[in-house]
Amino acid sequence: MTSRDKSTAAGLKTAAASDVDAITGHRRMRRTRVADWSRRLTRETRLTVDDLIWPIFIIPGVNVTEPIAAMPGVSRMSVDRAVEAARMAADLGIPALATFPNVEMEHRDQTGSYALEPDNLINQATRAIKQAVPDIGVITDVALDPFTDHGHDGILRDGEIVNDETVRVLAAAAVHQADAGADIIAPSDMMDGRIGAIRQALDAAGHHSVSIMSYATKFASALYGPYREAIGTSGLLKGDKRTYYLDPANATEAIRDAGLDVEEGADMLMVKPGLCYLDICRALKDSYGLPVFAYQVSGEYSMIKAGDAAGYIDGEKVMMEKLLAFKRAGCDGILTYFAPEAARLIAKGAV
Ligand code: PBG
Repeated sequence: MTSRDKSTAAGLKTAAASDVDAITGHRRMRRTRVADWSRRLTRETRLTVDDLIWPIFIIPGVNVTEPIAAMPGVSRMSVDRAVEAARMAADLGIPALATFPNVEMEHRDQTGSYALEPDNLINQATRAIKQAVPDIGVITDVALDPFTDHGHDGILRDGEIVNDETVRVLAAAAVHQADAGADIIAPSDMMDGRIGAIRQALDAAGHHSVSIMSYATKFASALYGPYREAIGTSGLLKGDKRTYYLDPANATEAIRDAGLDVEEGADMLMVKPGLCYLDICRALKDSYGLPVFAYQVSGEYSMIKAGDAAGYIDGEKVMMEKLLAFKRAGCDGILTYFAPEAARLIAKGAV
C-alpha cells in the first residue's frame, strides 16, 4: 500500500465513524428532492398539452364508432364522429391530429390508386375537420399501405417495392391532401427521395405553407401490430418491410438518412417507434436542431393498456412517465394514442 492509499482509507474510516457529511460535503443530491416545492422548482422537463399529437382512425359511413380489439380505448370513427373527436381534442388544447384511414377492400389494389382520388376517405376527413374545427392542425400520412391490397407502403412489382414510381404517386397524393386542407404532410413510407419530390410538388401547386413532417427514421419494428389491425392491413401484409424501413440495429445509418430528409426540405423530423429509439431522438435533435417528434406507436400503447388491465402496472403513471421520457430525450412533441387521456390528466394538475 502506498502512503496515499493509506491516508484515503484512513479518511474514509474516520468519516464513516463520525459524520457522513465529511464525505458528501456539498454533494448532497437529495437536498433539492426534499420537498414538493423544490422538486417542482428544479424539474428540468415538463410534459404539456402542447406536446401532444393525437393519431385517429377513420372509417367510411356515418355515425359509426368501432372499437379496435388490439387497442383498448381506441376506436375507428366515421368522418362525422372524427369531427366531434377533433372538437373535443381542440377543447382539451391538443394542437394537432394525425389521421389514418381504414378503407373498404374494393378501394385497395396493387398500386394503391385510391391514394390519388382527390375525395378519398382521408381527404374527406381533412375537409370536414378543417371546416368544423379550423384551429386544430391536421397531419396526414402519406404512404400507400392503407390503399394497397398487399399492405406494403409502396408499389409492389415482381416482389420488389419500387422506389421512384412510388415516390411519384406519393407526391401526387400529398398535393391532394394539401388541396383538402392538410396543414402538415407526413410521409411514413421510407422511400428514397420522397421528401424532395413532395416539397417540389407542393410548391408547384402553390402549397408553400404546408409543412412536411418526415417519418425520417422509421424502423422495421414489431411494435406496429395493433395499428395494422386498426387499418385492416394485418391480414393482407405478406413478408415484412425490411427492404425499406431501417434496421433496428443501425443508429448511424438512421442519422444519415434523416440528414437527407433535412437537405430535401423536411420541416420536422419524426422517430418511430418511440421509446426503444430515444437515442435516435436525442441524436436528431442535437444534429439538426429541427423540431423532433416521436411516435409512441400502437404496440407501445397496447402494452401499457394490457399491463394495466392485468394489474401489473399503474397504467396512468407509466403512460405519463413514458411520455415525459420523450421530452427528456429532446423531443418537441409526441404522437400518442394517449393524447386525450394525458391532456385530461395534465389539465387536472395531476402531473
Ligand atoms: C405505415 C405506417 C405504420 C404505422 C403508421 N403508418 C407502420 C406499418 O404498418 O408498417 C404504425 C403506427 C402505429 O403502430 O401506431 N405507413
